[in-house]
Amino acid sequence: MSATPLPPNATIGILGGGQLGRMSALAAAELGYRCHIYAPEADSPGMQVAAARSVADYEDAAALAAFAASVDVVTFEFENVPARTLEILAPLVPCRPGKKALAVCQDRLQEKTFLEAAGVPVAPWRAVHSLEDLHKAVAEIGLPAVLKTTRLGYDGRGQAVLRAPEDLAPAFARLEPKPLILEAFVPFTQEISAVAARGLDGQAVAYDAVENHHHHHILDLSFAPARVAPAAAAAARAHAMRVAAELDLVGVLAVEFFLLPDGRLLGNEIAPRPHNSGHWTMDACAASQFHQHIRAVAGLPLGGVERHSDAVMRNLVGPEGMAKLPALLGDNSVAVHLYGKASAREGRKMGHANRLFPRGTLSGTLSDTLADTAEAALLSGL
Ligand SMILES: Nc1ncnc2c1ncn2[C@@H]1O[C@H](COP(=O)(O)OP(=O)(O)O)[C@@H](O)[C@H]1O
Ligand SMILES: [Mg+2]
Repeated sequence: MSATPLPPNATIGILGGGQLGRMSALAAAELGYRCHIYAPEADSPGMQVAAARSVADYEDAAALAAFAASVDVVTFEFENVPARTLEILAPLVPCRPGKKALAVCQDRLQEKTFLEAAGVPVAPWRAVHSLEDLHKAVAEIGLPAVLKTTRLGYDGRGQAVLRAPEDLAPAFARLEPKPLILEAFVPFTQEISAVAARGLDGQAVAYDAVENHHHHHILDLSFAPARVAPAAAAAARAHAMRVAAELDLVGVLAVEFFLLPDGRLLGNEIAPRPHNSGHWTMDACAASQFHQHIRAVAGLPLGGVERHSDAVMRNLVGPEGMAKLPALLGDNSVAVHLYGKASAREGRKMGHANRLFPRGTLSGTLSDTLADTAEAALLSGL
């Protein structure tokens, strides 16, 4: 593939109008590009900052053709666009990332199969098409286990933890759409993730691995770097770059991992786009994950991934998150990023705050005796 970069003032089409599209469009503007956002919802966070917008359904062939004609390249902030969308767009305009990355990451069965083939260990799993399959899978994998939909799950939606034999039938009946996947319950000590970027020329880079903490299944905090053994952090980055190469990705992806008590990593999920656990890069690295994504999609060389500062990212979720805003705006160790959403509904990601520290601050909190007090200091007011 030729790596001729898009010239300044070219137009990048982005499918999806959420905060990831918004931050990608802002990064694109900084790099001299225009963005055209295509999404079904009007006045979405992305559209507020875009040069052009199309409000239309993802399967509206006429609207997609007009969109393709008005942009130089298409990317995604949302991996669950229907396969049909890409079938319509791909013959008309370069789509980065392409069909393979989207197909693999839309379906947990394909994702697990792909991760194993790419050399990333995963927890034992079975496909579940029927209640009979589920009984068989539980007999093989044991309890506890996690039953998940294979498609369209996010923020812990579309999954159930099975602890006892009587949990099987109700969970199977409730979870839609079928088929489902059963995964062994992983007794992880931490959840970490790594964001990698891969350019049009195949060059790949990865940011430092980060440690993620969830609240009500929504990402709450990321610590950059992850306070884990260096070998685990290095493995996470290497896996993320490998996955990007195997998917033939052009753009950014994140891989989520479980860290086991013995130090091994198991792959959990891949997101073929900028990821919430990479938001710290906006303030702690020369090129953020959004700049990197736009650079890759535009055929530019990738930017610097080195962490010049340590960072803690706090998601601002719902009314409680927004209540912290006055204090955060008055705290000069913190960079605030808001997404332009009108109403702060419960569970809605409204923005995030990055607190920066001199590089090396976080690794000082690795020791157990230091951890609690040091962590409280890192998070105070955040
Ligand atoms: N097999 C598992 N064992 C233990 N915990 C799990 C397992 N799968 C998921 N979880 C927990 O649920 C969270 C959400 O699951 P995940 O598969 O990442 O779905 P999503 O992020 O799409 O909702 C994970 O971050 C983890 O905390
Ligand atoms: Mg996840």
